[in-house]
Amino acid sequence: MFNNVIVRRPARSLVDGITSAPELGKPDYELALKQHDAYIEALKSCGVQVTVLEALEEYPDSCFVEDTAVLAKKCAIISNPGAETRRGESALMVDTIKKFYSDDQIEYIKSPGTMEGGDVMMVGDHFYIGLSARTNEEGCRQFKEALAKYGYTCSVVSLEEVLHLKTGVNYVENNNMLVSGEFIEKEDFKSFNKIIVPVEEAYGANCIWVNDTVIVPEGYPTVEKGIRDAGYKVIVTDTSEYRKLDGGLSCLSLRF
Ligand code: GLY
Repeated sequence: MFNNVIVRRPARSLVDGITSAPELGKPDYELALKQHDAYIEALKSCGVQVTVLEALEEYPDSCFVEDTAVLAKKCAIISNPGAETRRGESALMVDTIKKFYSDDQIEYIKSPGTMEGGDVMMVGDHFYIGLSARTNEEGCRQFKEALAKYGYTCSVVSLEEVLHLKTGVNYVENNNMLVSGEFIEKEDFKSFNKIIVPVEEAYGANCIWVNDTVIVPEGYPTVEKGIRDAGYKVIVTDTSEYRKLDGGLSCLSLRF
């Protein structure tokens, strides 16, 4: 059960965000704002309190708050983004996180360790962390060590094809997991009920579970059907402008 969500409004500089898919074009800022409004409404309708932070013009990717921290029940772990242009975003999240966690519950990933929250997937008291272009071995080691203090366990998953772990695999509770591409056959996930995402809908693997509702991106009918067939209530919301920056539904919030 999540009670709280933190989001950050997209900045006008969003158009200069990092992308691996320039062929999709630049995001339309006004449309991105409208999509962000709808995203916040979708979250609120799942019964969470949403803290909306102001845009940060100096950080084009700063609406993707998920990368700045991992917020668990017993602790918060502040990340150290692997992307140079994003490194300052985590420190700017600390004051907000301190409204929900005491100082002795907050841990920090430090250089040379790098870690981005998009590489972390929580499954109960176990966390999977993706070893990726953004999260390095030292980041994984520090993350695992920090979690152990609170009785959590962690395993490392090597990524071959995608930006972040949750670009391609997402846990939606009740032992159900959306899996795409390289994750479909991964040993690490063999015990889960898999909802297989076809290659042409790969972006749709990034759905979020919020209190028994699953929020699904618009335009991914196989994913939507798979989630409905698994018995969830579904909210569909459009994230086309964030997709242009490799950003999905999970990237846009911290849920805890
Ligand atoms: N554009 C989001 C990221 O690369 O982190």
